[in-house]
Amino acid sequence: MLVLGIETTCDETAAAVVERHDDGRATILANVVLSQIAEHAAFGGVVPEIAARAHVEALDLIIATAMAEAGRDFGALDGVAAAAGPGLIGGVIVGLITAKVIALVHKKPLMAVNHLEAHALTVRLTDETPFPYCLFLASGGHTQIVAVRGVGDYVRLGTTRDDAIGEAFDKTAKLLGLGYPGGQRVEREAARGDPSRFNLPRPMLGRQDADFSLSGLKTALRLEAEKIAPLTHQDVADLCASFQLAVVEMVVDRLRYGLRIFRERFGVPCALVAAGGVAANDAIRKALLNLAAQEHVALMVPPPSLCTDNAAMIAWAGAERLAQGLCDGLDSSPRARWPLDQVGAPLPGPRPHATATADGGALSSHSSLVGDRRGGEPRDCGPKAPYTSISTIDPFRPPGEEDGVPSDTVPSAVA
Ligand code: KG4
Ligand code: ZN
Repeated sequence: MLVLGIETTCDETAAAVVERHDDGRATILANVVLSQIAEHAAFGGVVPEIAARAHVEALDLIIATAMAEAGRDFGALDGVAAAAGPGLIGGVIVGLITAKVIALVHKKPLMAVNHLEAHALTVRLTDETPFPYCLFLASGGHTQIVAVRGVGDYVRLGTTRDDAIGEAFDKTAKLLGLGYPGGQRVEREAARGDPSRFNLPRPMLGRQDADFSLSGLKTALRLEAEKIAPLTHQDVADLCASFQLAVVEMVVDRLRYGLRIFRERFGVPCALVAAGGVAANDAIRKALLNLAAQEHVALMVPPPSLCTDNAAMIAWAGAERLAQGLCDGLDSSPRARWPLDQVGAPLPGPRPHATATADGGALSSHSSLVGDRRGGEPRDCGPKAPYTSISTIDPFRPPGEEDGVPSDTVPSAVA
């Protein structure tokens, strides 16, 4: 099953072609990501209007590049998937409409994919991780612990009460003058800093739930920085290291409770899985490895380039849905907000009506459900090697660059 995926929910314009084999394995034939960092850098964050325009300008070429790299034409596709939300609505509209046009012209099913679901399922693209698993999803806008029981079957066990972890990294970077995007820069500074210099709070530590809170940590960091301003390079590094350590310790503590809640409600998880841009952070990955060993659960984390936003994950989520008989009508709506645990539910709005597809079939305007969408009851699954990686093709990545780490010298290109 061959699926084209399109991602435009934030500041990456991305297209990928992924093949899902009958046995559930996957091959990424092309995975092209063009970052808009240069366009937004001067503003210290993503400007939605600029992002939407940049997607319009770049998307056709990015799709053409992905198809050329895959060596297939549109006729060979079994479906077209686009991230239909949640995200910046202008960009979501651009990606979804483009996917609809390709689906219509080439008579292919459309999958309007939830971006969070795509992060949640990436580990099945890289490692065929069986359901159910306990997911730590941490990106720029979301921080959640989720029981992933099957495609479209997500139960949220914990979430942030204020900021997302990625957002906290970004705000820390901004406060310390490290610019945008923040996560990787804070991580880089932290690597040469002293994590014990500043005694920052670990919010929520020890609470009997799986929720997060970042705002107190953010404020404490600002107060410490103000106390010693003007900051030297070493001060910045020490602040980053202290901040990152506080985040790591909070994440480990929250996941320990998350796993406990998972076991109580759903039995033994097949794996602890991390996803989203924050899961590219090496200190967090190492801490999760220790936690997983202590909790006797396999840790599965995609390679960093598939943790941050990309279209291979959208194509894969589309393929997983298509394999279950799930596809969407050409009138499906782009959505700024779309909680993960509502993915499987019927969409709000007018009643579904049949939409004639170009191939003469009728697709519901809402997700059509065919077959059993559950992943089955918890079962005993053998441990798998952590950090199994796959190769991706990215013509925009400068030579010699690490997975997911953008080069300072080529600010507009990241993997
Ligand atoms: O999943 P993602 O690429 O986009 C969203 O869906 O939001 O996540 C982006 C977030 C940003 O907040 C970014 O600062 C953070 O992930 N991030 C990191 C790292 N790489 C990206 N945070 C910490 N360490 C990193 N290495
Ligand atoms: Zn994302």
